Order: sequence, then C-alpha cells, then structure tokens
Amino acid sequence: MLIGCPKEIKPQEFRVGLTPNAAREAIAHGHNVIVETNAGFGSGFSDQDYIDAGAKIEGAASDVFAKADMIVKVKEPQAVERKMLREGQLLFTYLHLAPDPDQTLDLLKSGCTAIAYETVTDNAGGLPLLAPMSEVAGKLAPQVGAWTLQKANGGRGVLMGGVPGVGPARVVVIGGGVVGTHAARVAAGMGADVTVLDRSLARLRYLDDVFGRTFKTSYANAGNTIELVSQADMVIGAVLIPGAAAPKLITKAQLSEMKPGAAIVDVAIDQGGCFETSRTTTHQDPIYDVDGIMHYCVANMPGAVARTSTIALGNATLPFLLNLADKGWKQACADDPNLLNGLNVHAGKLTYYAVGKALGMDVIAPSLALK
Ligand SMILES: NC(=O)c1ccc[n+]([C@@H]2O[C@H](COP(=O)([O-])OP(=O)(O)OC[C@H]3O[C@@H](n4cnc5c(N)ncnc54)[C@H](O)[C@@H]3O)[C@@H](O)[C@H]2O)c1
Repeated sequence: MLIGCPKEIKPQEFRVGLTPNAAREAIAHGHNVIVETNAGFGSGFSDQDYIDAGAKIEGAASDVFAKADMIVKVKEPQAVERKMLREGQLLFTYLHLAPDPDQTLDLLKSGCTAIAYETVTDNAGGLPLLAPMSEVAGKLAPQVGAWTLQKANGGRGVLMGGVPGVGPARVVVIGGGVVGTHAARVAAGMGADVTVLDRSLARLRYLDDVFGRTFKTSYANAGNTIELVSQADMVIGAVLIPGAAAPKLITKAQLSEMKPGAAIVDVAIDQGGCFETSRTTTHQDPIYDVDGIMHYCVANMPGAVARTSTIALGNATLPFLLNLADKGWKQACADDPNLLNGLNVHAGKLTYYAVGKALGMDVIAPSLALK
C-alpha cells in the first residue's frame, strides 16, 4: 500500500500523523510511504529523518493526496484537504464528526473510507487511540495549574509542594479516569495534597487499590464536591460522560465559595467543560479570571507538547495502521471488531450510529460496508 502523510494545517496543530519510526515499520512490512515536506517539523522530525527511514518526501499536500492509497493524519481534514480526498481512498485520523455536518457531508461526497481514531475501541471497552492524549493532558494539567497559581499570573501564589514549615497546595481532581489519574499522580509527585472525586465506586476502588496513599479518593456527590472545591488551591476538571456534553458540576455562584486566586484547569473543556464559567482558551492566551478564580481551559492541551504527543499517538495507532496496510481495510475490519468500530464513513454512507443520530442522517451498519 502507498501510505501518505500530509502536514497538518489546522491552526496551532504541531503534531504529525506518522513518525519516522512508524514509517520505517510500515516500509519493513513492504509498504511505501510518502510524507509532505516539513510535515514532522512541529514535532521535531526533519525530512531527512523520514528519508533515513526509507520514506519519500513530496513537495505539496496535493501530491500526497493524489498518490496515496491511505492518508494518515492527526486532526480532521480541513475543507481544502477534503476536496483532495477521492473514492476508494482510506483516511485514518481523528474526525469528531458528530458536531461537524460540513465535514461529514464532504467526506460522504468524496466517496472515501474514513476510520476515526476516536471511535476505535479495545477489548476492555476503552478508546485506545484517545487514551494517549488523555494521558498527556492529565500529566500537563498540574504543570499548567502550578503556573496559573503563581502570583504574577493572577493565582494565589501557592507552591505545589510547599516547603518545610509551610503546607502543600490542595489539589482536587474531579473525574478519576485516564486524565484524572495521570493528573493526580503528577500533582502528588509535585508534593501537593491531592483528592480525586469520581461517581464510579468501581473506579474509586481501583484507584485506592493501585495508588494507596499517593492521593485520597472521595465519592463525587454534590456535597463532597463543593466542600473539597471550596478548600482547594487547584481544581482539575476531568469528567467524561461518553457521547455527552460534560456535566456542569460547579456553578458561577459557587466560585464565591472558593479561595481567592485558586486555579481551575478544566481539561474537559473539549466536551464543553465541567464548570459553568469555563470557555475555551488557546495556548497563546490560556487563562482568564472570573470572580477572582483563574481559569485555564485550553481545548488542545497535547499540542503544547507536540513531540511527546505525536510519539504517544503513533505508538497507539501503529498496530492498527499496519493491519490496515497489510490486509486492506475490509479484511482488517472484518478480523477486528474494535477497528470496525472506527469505521465512520464508506463510499458515500455513514456507518457510525451516534454520528447519524447527532446529525439526523441515515446510517448503514458497518458490517454492510464490508460486503
Ligand atoms: N483539553 C484537552 O486537551 C483534552 C485532552 C484529552 C482529553 N480531554 C478530555 O478530558 C475529559 C476526561 O477524559 P478521560 O479520558 O479521562 O475520560 P475517562 O472516561 O477515562 O474518565 C472520565 C471519568 O469521569 C467520571 N465521571 C463521570 N461523571 C462524573 C461526575 N459527575 N463526577 C465525577 N466523576 C465523573 C467517570 O466515572 C470516569 O472515571 C474528556 O472530556 C476528554 O475529552 C481533554
């Protein structure tokens, strides 16, 4: 198969869909790889790194789209990229179609086959191609929260780990899934006093078993949540109700119960955020103040550490990518129901029920697309 990797063109996107090491593996499997010039630049990979791996560099995205059997990307194709997709071509990337009718219609019109990273599953019911980005965002959250807490940034002026004679910052993490667990580990590692809230007792049992005294756990009813939030120097929002907007757990009025200068890091902002006062910010202008509480609400946190994120995403996508290339998408999806769950669009038809429901469009069963 000829695998093509264009440079990402969405603003502030520095990741790349294929690392030189992934290209090397695909080539070792007998495939050919073409990469747009400078595609890896934002993640610290030069054209020479790809050439050394055996790939060929193309001067323009249009060449990559025109030649490749499979396009591998990070972000959903932008309008100009969608025009270059063609019937029978395979697209493997994040799509997030449910809130995006324009993209959905363009993909249907192109006749391509599109497999979305975010709906590929694993045997434990998890989302293996979303998890690496949650791990990154979780580990970043206390780091950016600690910066937000600094006085010059409008914060309380509290040091995460304290010093001898002065206690540590109190950090509350709401949601103990992938983001929350990684956030809690890093915050505890920085010396903070950390409590994780979750509504799943099974998850709280797991956290207690695995992490013991590293951090505390608490059941996330409304009373416990506001009590802990009101004592916190930093609150990290990390809840997820799959397929739904994040629940608003702290209202604007409740901010007055928080300590002045406390920091909110709402990682769940990509699902609307779990604080009533959250609104999306960017890496250029990440924080803002509401009633003396500093909010950090960047929706693409992994972009801040593009190199780590690219490599982490590549580690997760590579086995699926190799399967798609080795077997062709039909056989690969027929052999692996988890990969079939990633199929969103095929030959002008939607094949993912939740997207069809969100957009009020017809859907065919993905198994029909395999015939
Ligand atoms: N901003 C970013 O750059 C970025 C990056 C990655 C992930 N995210 C987002 O972070 C959020 C969390 O992702 P995840 O991978 O950790 O999800 P996850 O499914 O692993 O964890 C979510 C946890 O929230 C818990 N939860 C649900 N409702 C709750 C409630 N009312 N109170 C307390 N806990 C509750 C669940 O039980 C679960 O343990 C998602 O919205 C995800 O999209 C954002």
